[in-house]
Amino acid sequence: MTGSPLVPEYWRSQGVEQVLIDEASIARRVRELGLQLSVELGRDQDVVLIAVLTGAIVFAADLMRAIPTRVAISMVSVSSYGASTTSQGAVLASTLPHNLAGKHVIIVDEVLDSGGTLRLLRAELGRLGVASLRACVLLRKQREPALSTPCEMVGFDIPDVFVVGYGLDFNDEFRNMPFVGVLGPEGIEAGSIR
Ligand code: IMP
Ligand code: MG
Repeated sequence: MTGSPLVPEYWRSQGVEQVLIDEASIARRVRELGLQLSVELGRDQDVVLIAVLTGAIVFAADLMRAIPTRVAISMVSVSSYGASTTSQGAVLASTLPHNLAGKHVIIVDEVLDSGGTLRLLRAELGRLGVASLRACVLLRKQREPALSTPCEMVGFDIPDVFVVGYGLDFNDEFRNMPFVGVLGPEGIEAGSIR
């Protein structure tokens, strides 16, 4: 989160007000997280990364390539209900991967906001006899209950603002924007009436 590069003109025209974390800073931090994981887990463990659809796909794709040893990849779908810029309850919307007993499981998510997603997945996965369970999120918002939700690895702590890009969406758009940016009220309004 160093400096504050200009928002590219196109994304500015779509309502993105600020570059919160630029591409290079994300790449650097993702490499660190991958390295930390490989040091903690060692070489000879059965490791499963479970990415939460859809927001975590970009982060998970980069994180898995920052881990220099064999890992299995799974996806899980969790739906949160609530208005489009807030989240409330979380429910499992897919089955969990099979055969997790004895595995070292890492839940990969893009943002820790209300914490509902992580709390749900921890409770569900905790019942399956895993060898260890970690959560790794790219972003954590500086708010409660995010800060009191157990989470072993955090890429960046960010202010409690609505962000898009690098997998994070507004109305399913903006996920492909390569940096994390703040979507201003104009962008939110324009998107919600389309
Ligand atoms: P939770 O509230 O921690 O369970 O997070 C649930 C989901 O809310 C995340 O996986 C995101 O899909 C979504 N979310 C929370 N904050 C933001 C945001 O700032 N931008 C985009 N999506 C968000
Ligand atoms: Mg979302």
